[in-house]
Amino acid sequence: MKDRLLEIERKASRELEGVTDPEALEQFRVRYLGKKGEITSIMRDLGRLPPQERPEVGKLANRLKEKLNRLFEEKKRDFGPGRRDEKAFLDVSLPGREPPRGQLHPITQVLEEVCRIFVRMGYRIVKGPNVELDYYNFEALNIPKDHPARDMQDTFYISENVVLRTHTSPMQVRTMERHPPPVAVIAPGRVYRRDSDVSHTPMFHQVEGLLVDRGVTFGDLKGTLTSFVHQMFGKKTALRFRPSFFPFTEPSAEVDIRCVICKGEGCRTCGQTGWLEILGSGMVDPAVYEFVDYDPEVYSGFAFGLGIERIAMLKYGIDDIHMFFRNDIRFLGQF
Ligand code: DAH
Repeated sequence: MKDRLLEIERKASRELEGVTDPEALEQFRVRYLGKKGEITSIMRDLGRLPPQERPEVGKLANRLKEKLNRLFEEKKRDFGPGRRDEKAFLDVSLPGREPPRGQLHPITQVLEEVCRIFVRMGYRIVKGPNVELDYYNFEALNIPKDHPARDMQDTFYISENVVLRTHTSPMQVRTMERHPPPVAVIAPGRVYRRDSDVSHTPMFHQVEGLLVDRGVTFGDLKGTLTSFVHQMFGKKTALRFRPSFFPFTEPSAEVDIRCVICKGEGCRTCGQTGWLEILGSGMVDPAVYEFVDYDPEVYSGFAFGLGIERIAMLKYGIDDIHMFFRNDIRFLGQF
């Protein structure tokens, strides 16, 4: 019996070496390890041995079975997927897998576009703190202590004299404080208000503009902002200057553009008026010059402030400002 086992081992090893395809390997398995295979038949014959020999031969037979099983599995792996000699293992002509590419947030894109337009006109970019002194955010902009814009409902107060800036207009004062006229600057950045509904978020973006020189007129303001609207929304976009009020400009005007949704017919977005407000502007109030030592008898200028989210919504026809802040990659990927 032991001899038979040794003989099987020798034969099986030799045979396995000659196996070169999966079919031959399967035949090998059936012949040695299958239900009617050689090992199985040995196991069956164990019963015929004298009882004292059975454990030893049984053990040897089991060991051989394990060994052939192992050799079989090893060989099988040679024929499996990823085997070296398979032609399809590495197809260098297959197209590569492109990793997902990042891109700028639509708000960043619009912000940069607005800045580019004014930089081309000769404006310089300035930046200032988001956490701002009450003095710059309100006081020096001619907004007295009891003005509604200072209401606790709109402003995030850090302390009695420190706020999160509610607009970028404080950069007007900071700029004029440090630079004598003439100045032509834009100040992009984040602003904060205690406000949240379909068209408001507690943080949003503005771009402030300021130009002061000798002999600057309201005509310059109109020409500059008309050129901006045409570059931003297209040359055919109609716009109008509507009288308004801001404590730091006199006279003041808001600029409306023809509703991009209904083209002026009247719809939900424009509140049936056919017009959409896009920015506030005006001639710098002489009261502001007092705070920065500019001589209002010699210099005049205009200022404007525009909301980036609003412009982005109009440019792309988005009716919910919160879409910009949900960070849904399927939405952001469209711009
Ligand atoms: N700061 C104003 C706001 O946030 C917008 C504004 C209006 C800015 C008129 C200006 C301006 O510079 O002249 O509502």
